[in-house]
Amino acid sequence: MTHRIGYIVGSLAKDSINRVLSKSLVRLAPPSLELVEIPIRDLPLYNRDDELDPVAAVTTFKHDVERAEGLLLISPEYNRSIPGALKNAIDWGSRPWGHNSFARKPTGIIGASTGAIGTAVMQSSMRSVLSFLNAPQLNAPEAYITFKPELFGEDGEVTDPATEEFLRHYMSEYAAFVERVVSLTAPGHVGDQG
Ligand SMILES: Cc1cc2nc3c(=O)[nH]c(=O)nc-3n(C[C@H](O)[C@H](O)[C@H](O)COP(=O)(O)O)c2cc1C
Repeated sequence: MTHRIGYIVGSLAKDSINRVLSKSLVRLAPPSLELVEIPIRDLPLYNRDDELDPVAAVTTFKHDVERAEGLLLISPEYNRSIPGALKNAIDWGSRPWGHNSFARKPTGIIGASTGAIGTAVMQSSMRSVLSFLNAPQLNAPEAYITFKPELFGEDGEVTDPATEEFLRHYMSEYAAFVERVVSLTAPGHVGDQG
């Protein structure tokens, strides 16, 4: 059985290292995952006034998130926090009140930065946001990637065997986590609280 996973790249840059990382993760994912990008580039700035009659980009975004069985957030750290474009997308997806598209979606957080702590502070901040949104998160392994050009090719091929093994392991643990959450939240499961 395959699971449809929506991945979101938190950077809009053409030469984004997180986009390169996303290509690596797609390559290294086990066959049980079908990874589909959920784009955030065309979303307007969040405005509560437009919640009930949003532009098509917002409707499409929420639909894409809801259609996914799991989410993978692949993002840089900006000024020790979540990049504005990604937080903006999450804000749209969380509303209107009572229609939070992220609820119960098993979510993985991973990111690459040029700095030594590899997006650790962004990820900590993201965990707080996702907890509020009732999205279960893969706790371990954590994945803080300090990007070095010699580790990755442009199309996401991982040229360093240890990095490749780590990312493959991350994706396999993420797949097992999705499987667990999906089976526990399936309609009719004894522990399902609705
Ligand atoms: C506005 C801005 C803020 C940044 N803040 C951080 C930071 O807090 N921590 C860090 O490790 N790198 C930081 N960086 C450097 C990023 O790690 C680097 O630009 C990286 O390439 C961004 O990822 P991307 O290529 O996927 O856009 C920052 C970069 C920008 C443009």
